[in-house]
Amino acid sequence: MIELYRVNKEYSNGQTALKDISLHIPMGQMVFLIGESGAGKSTLLKILYKAEEFSSGRVLIGRVDISRLVDYSPLRRKIGLIFQDSSLLPQLNVFDNVAYILRAQGASEREIQYRVEGALNVVGLLDRSKDMTQHLSGGERQRVGIARAIVTNPPILLADEPTGNLDPVNSLKIFQLFREINEKLKMTMIIATHDPRVHQLKKRIIQLGNSQIIMDTEPSELPMFRSLTAV
Ligand SMILES: Nc1ncnc2c1ncn2[C@@H]1O[C@H](COP(=O)(O)OP(=O)(O)O)[C@@H](O)[C@H]1O
Ligand SMILES: [Mg+2]
Repeated sequence: MIELYRVNKEYSNGQTALKDISLHIPMGQMVFLIGESGAGKSTLLKILYKAEEFSSGRVLIGRVDISRLVDYSPLRRKIGLIFQDSSLLPQLNVFDNVAYILRAQGASEREIQYRVEGALNVVGLLDRSKDMTQHLSGGERQRVGIARAIVTNPPILLADEPTGNLDPVNSLKIFQLFREINEKLKMTMIIATHDPRVHQLKKRIIQLGNSQIIMDTEPSELPMFRSLTAV
């Protein structure tokens, strides 16, 4: 569960990035965070993964007030991150890129095998395990980035413009993959994007505009709205 209460963020140069943001994202929910460039999407995600402090308000992740944390590492272990550029390690093949964090954490080879194969299977790249990442297309590279983010099975997945480098067809496929992952693995997900086509995916959409929430729609609200207007 992710909860924000009246969160404000002003950068040290005086630039306001978030104004009075309150929202509640239940466990396992998938949310698209949309809005034009500069609306505050990245800032909101950075606050959640503790790359930026907020100026006022309260943020709770799994009932823990994150401003009170002294050690951020348990929180960071709960969060898988995906960015526009998945920054894969060019000297490693697909399998080893996904295995990297597990090896760093000292997991056994047997566990690594099981988890990496599981993650690559979810993103549809199990048969590319031995390929070097520079031989993959942009969409495939981003799938490796997603496998790497889910391989530790974090309860929360945050993605900042994950399709920023992809063409429209591949972007939609990546959004559909996120939806499949959400349905299969039940991770809580926030996906920031300026692609308005995410409306097609029928998930909750929170729109930021000028540092504020200007729309928050659950897909279940849409038929209700239609039936009301039909009366
Ligand atoms: N490190 C920073 N220092 C000062 N201002 C920033 C910084 N990062 C972002 N901003 C400003 O905060 C606002 C929100 O930015 P951002 O969260 O990156 O929006 P988005 O991800 O929706 O494009 C913008 O006006 C941006 O210029
Ligand atoms: Mg951004």
